[in-house]
Amino acid sequence: MIFKKNWKKDWAVCANELSKLYPVDWTQKRLHALDRLDLYVRRGEVFGLLGPNGSGKSTTLKLILGLLNPSSGSVQVFGAEAGTLEARRRIGFLPENAYFPAFLSGREVLRYYGRLVDLAQRKLWKRVEELLELVELTAAAARPLKTYSKGMLQRIGLAQALLNDPDLLLLDEPTAGVDPIGARQIRDLILGLRARGKTVIFSSHLLEQVQEVADRVAILHRGTVIQEGTLEDLLSVREQTQFTVSGLAPVARERLEEWLRGEGAEVLEVTHPRERLEELFIKAVEKRR
Ligand SMILES: Nc1ncnc2c1ncn2[C@@H]1O[C@H](COP(=O)(O)OP(=O)(O)OP(=O)(O)O)[C@@H](O)[C@H]1O
Ligand SMILES: [Mg+2]
Repeated sequence: MIFKKNWKKDWAVCANELSKLYPVDWTQKRLHALDRLDLYVRRGEVFGLLGPNGSGKSTTLKLILGLLNPSSGSVQVFGAEAGTLEARRRIGFLPENAYFPAFLSGREVLRYYGRLVDLAQRKLWKRVEELLELVELTAAAARPLKTYSKGMLQRIGLAQALLNDPDLLLLDEPTAGVDPIGARQIRDLILGLRARGKTVIFSSHLLEQVQEVADRVAILHRGTVIQEGTLEDLLSVREQTQFTVSGLAPVARERLEEWLRGEGAEVLEVTHPRERLEELFIKAVEKRR
């Protein structure tokens, strides 16, 4: 069913006043996992869902996928109601803690899940090889998953989510437990997907990683969006200005500060820039490779 009302064609996902209550025990008590959440994701953007543990990130993704039904409110995916075949066939999903049979090889797992997608065998096998190439696992494709590292498992999970060539990818903590280099590989994959016009929604509580890929983010807290916008809007402190210069002699620095004060500016901080720990780690490891 297409919802014409409040639907704009440039939205990939529209969630309106979405609530989800989970039963707590045998009594009538219910846990409010989502509380009238509004979320709009544009086509072709990478959208980060941020929030502490238990804030409702996984629940939101499962409602968009149609794996759960909302207690109230609605979600539309490319104009179709979430959960309908029309919506489902355009979505690829990487669950949190994806579980794949450990005794199967990477190639076998993709072929197995591929059977659930409507593809003729020859086409499917070709697609599996392309995906193995994309996630850089061709060399390890014949090895059983039990020999894979966490980063490799997440990449197989990502390849699995791409089997049906979806327009929208829902990735629940794609970099959980992955080291910074593996996380960077996954980040590059996400950016590659965006370059191909895909829409990506992913959840994380690793703020730095989100910062590197997301066009827009929403911060969830107890099932509602408490902040939403582009990183530029959320993070830049507009009334302050930062210069980074090299080769500035101490005398020149004093004169510069004096001049700035003369211009009516208040010098808040003069420091040496620090590399982020993640950058340092990546540089050090890459040098060794
Ligand atoms: N099947 C369920 N039954 C009962 N309560 C649930 C169920 N799934 C989630 N919850 C509760 O709903 C709330 C939101 O959970 P959700 O898994 O969506 O959070 P999250 O943001 O993904 O957390 P995390 O960062 O730990 O993955 C939590 O309080 C959680 O305990
Ligand atoms: Mg979760």
